[in-house]
Amino acid sequence: MDIMSLTSPHIRGLEAYEPPDWEALAARAGVSPDRLIRLDANENYYSPSPRVSEALARSEAYRFYPDYGPLKEAIARYAGASPEQIVLGNGGDEIIDLSIRLFVEPGEAVIVNPPAFGMYSVSAEAHHGKVLPVPRNRDFSLDLPAIEALVQGGAAARPKLLFVTSPGNPDGQSVPVETLLRLLKLPLAIIVDEAYVEFGGASAVPLLEDHDNLIVLRTFSKWAGIAGLRLGYAVTSPPIAQALERLRPPYNVNAAAVVAAMATFEDMDRVRSTLSTVITERERLRAALAELPGIEPLPSRANFVLCRLKVRTGRELAGALAETGILIRCFSAPALEDAVRITVGRPEQHDVLLAALRSILSGESPDPGLLSRATEPQPEGRRASVERRTRETEVSVTLELDGSGRYEIDTRLGFLDHMLAQIASHGLFDLTVRARGDLHVDEHHTVEDVAIVLGQALDRALGDRSGLVRMGHAYAPLDEALARVVVDLSGRPYAVIEACFETARIGAVGTDLLAHFMETLAFNARISLHAQVLYGRNDHHRAEALFKALGRALDAASRQDPRRSSVPSTKGVL
Ligand SMILES: Cc1ncc(COP(=O)(O)O)c(C=O)c1O
Repeated sequence: MDIMSLTSPHIRGLEAYEPPDWEALAARAGVSPDRLIRLDANENYYSPSPRVSEALARSEAYRFYPDYGPLKEAIARYAGASPEQIVLGNGGDEIIDLSIRLFVEPGEAVIVNPPAFGMYSVSAEAHHGKVLPVPRNRDFSLDLPAIEALVQGGAAARPKLLFVTSPGNPDGQSVPVETLLRLLKLPLAIIVDEAYVEFGGASAVPLLEDHDNLIVLRTFSKWAGIAGLRLGYAVTSPPIAQALERLRPPYNVNAAAVVAAMATFEDMDRVRSTLSTVITERERLRAALAELPGIEPLPSRANFVLCRLKVRTGRELAGALAETGILIRCFSAPALEDAVRITVGRPEQHDVLLAALRSILSGESPDPGLLSRATEPQPEGRRASVERRTRETEVSVTLELDGSGRYEIDTRLGFLDHMLAQIASHGLFDLTVRARGDLHVDEHHTVEDVAIVLGQALDRALGDRSGLVRMGHAYAPLDEALARVVVDLSGRPYAVIEACFETARIGAVGTDLLAHFMETLAFNARISLHAQVLYGRNDHHRAEALFKALGRALDAASRQDPRRSSVPSTKGVL
């Protein structure tokens, strides 16, 4: 007997998803698969919260079937709904599948608006549904009159479900709320797929208040950076949620995904700061792409940028990039033949992409060594995240040495925040600091522990310290006050701080703690630090000049000079 003759003939006609052959692509480009730059799948190249890996390492939750109660509550709080409105899925993909099974009987229809995410049609067809495509307009807006005509005009297959993606894939544009409100009046269920909403879209969740035919689809794959753990969810009206629950396999979401999601929610400040980095990088990438001849990047509210090409087809451009080991997405649909979609990556990946694009677009072959040189594994870059929790304080710091002076600082001590901002903006570091300390006692522990954690982050971000300019100094005036800071990033901790103040406090910070902050920083960062307030009348000015000078001196010393890369490094001491 041919066993296949027992399987459903319908399923035999479907095609399996074929993942790209990374080995073959890498071999063609002459690099190992881990060197490929994969900007084709809208993954998140910025690490998830470090609490995720810590929590996974500690947890033994996998020994038992998972309990979804706390996660549903946390998601409900995050999404602005109640736990009864949340249905968990093994990725957003499973929510798509469950929804089709809930609404669509064999022969009934699902409306999609191509270009659209492929799983809508794949799942509909697997469940004997009919797919009714209503192509989007050239500017990617929905063809509302055509959708309304199809629903109201009595199509042969009765439409039960409509998929709308906002922000859209592959275009990255949000669907206006007026459009959603018009669609929600139609007699069918509407899935608003918000897989990318955290990167800048507006959510449709508030519309659930008045519309029980709405299902908002969300995922942890993109914003939380845990695509491999497969966690998605629906936010919907209680009756739809209850009905979906009848179909949902009891333990469809694995225990590791639950642990990772809870850890993500515990670290939202950092996750939000990573999201804003992705958004900033997206805008930088878009601006850089716009400078290239023949490429028109479109605005995006997602973690990718769609580009129209003026000269080549998307397939040609993606093919040429793939030869060098850089993967971007092209499309076979005629409306997108002249387009490519590029996922937002890390700045160093963008540098390689842009260099390769420049060569290809000017008719030259890209430098074959570009990729192997540029993607030497440096997963952290000159970047570090450090957290420290004690009975007195909880401090987390993220520091990117090659930043642009952006900062997000919240220690609950206004003057300390102001001083840390001086280090970031004058050092051109990207700095996130969050501290919660026992301020009901006094500010001592908070100031000291922020210095410890910032020092440790600086130490880690400096890596093995070879190739650094290493010494740097700066004078910084602030009106009548002048300060001077000299640093040596040698790895030898030492501090000489000469800073006298006339008042006991500036804001909520005791002035004696400012010198203590600098010393603690120097020892934890393993740097030699000589800092002096040379003169001044106003204490705020004296302190601010000192921190400005510190930022400038650190910037000068932490730059890299390839001529110095042969400086010997012994156990991190130069
Ligand atoms: C528009 C859209 N919806 C849903 C998904 C599914 O995401 P996941 O199954 O990883 O949650 C994706 C993934 O790329 C997507 O692009």
